Amino acid sequence: MSQVIYVTGGAQGIGKGIARYLLERGHSVVIVDVDEEAGAECVDELGEIGPLHFLPVDVRDERAVKHSLGQTVDLFGRLDGVINNAAQADPFMDEIESVDLAEWQRVIDINLTGPFLVSKHAVPHLRQNRGAIVNIASTRALQSEPDTEAYAASKGGIVALTHALAISLGPAVRVNAISPGWIDVRQWQKRSARQPTEALSARDHQQHPAGHVGRPDDVAAMAAYLLSQEAGFVIGQNFVIDGGMTRKMIYAD
Ligand SMILES: NC(=O)c1ccc[n+]([C@@H]2O[C@H](COP(=O)([O-])OP(=O)(O)OC[C@H]3O[C@@H](n4cnc5c(N)ncnc54)[C@H](O)[C@@H]3O)[C@@H](O)[C@H]2O)c1
Repeated sequence: MSQVIYVTGGAQGIGKGIARYLLERGHSVVIVDVDEEAGAECVDELGEIGPLHFLPVDVRDERAVKHSLGQTVDLFGRLDGVINNAAQADPFMDEIESVDLAEWQRVIDINLTGPFLVSKHAVPHLRQNRGAIVNIASTRALQSEPDTEAYAASKGGIVALTHALAISLGPAVRVNAISPGWIDVRQWQKRSARQPTEALSARDHQQHPAGHVGRPDDVAAMAAYLLSQEAGFVIGQNFVIDGGMTRKMIYAD
């Protein structure tokens, strides 16, 4: 069945990959993003595939979030699903002794409060269609490199927000999370931000039990499943899509 899906941070990276995947399968998509240049480019590139609309929205802005969800229903007549994907995606910050409160707060506001605000204002629309929310967390909710406290905490928060919402909203609205590992999004950025294509090394790929670094479609396929009626008995879960990296035991030689 064709669905109407709202994807935050959908103008670039994994969100853009999810938007394309859903469009190719006959769904209608609204992407919201702070980056208007990327949003316009995305509509240019993907608009031929199917019904796609871009709305400039900062997910920290409650009024704008609420308004854009109303606009989505005005445009397409209904709302079936939300992908909470927008984030400050670079996990690294200063070391803990010197990190500013403002930097911590910025990451939490975008990565955790944003999905809360979007969920809050999407729920009245989603309830009408037995809709679904998919939150994009990270394997960094489960394991860390140094100097990534705000990002890791925001993603751990998303996993907890997911089961809390799932229990509050079931059975009317299903809520699940996806925790991606390393997904190569360099070619999914807006043109002006695309890096020259330096191929990833054989070592980058081979360290993954899957034999390769992840692609946006790896995440998109799970997102599409979680949005579908086929996932009707799947509630409050966190699906790790990381090519097996968090299942691999690593000791130094
Ligand atoms: N790429 C990875 O390896 C990876 C791994 C694990 C988790 N993730 C998660 O996947 C999601 C997408 O990551 P990505 O790598 O595609 O990132 P990206 O930076 O390529 O894309 C993120 C998009 O979100 C938008 N955005 C940022 N702040 C926003 C705001 N306040 N309001 C609205 N839009 C905003 C950006 O403009 C951008 O278009 C994020 O939640 C990230 O944490 C990514």
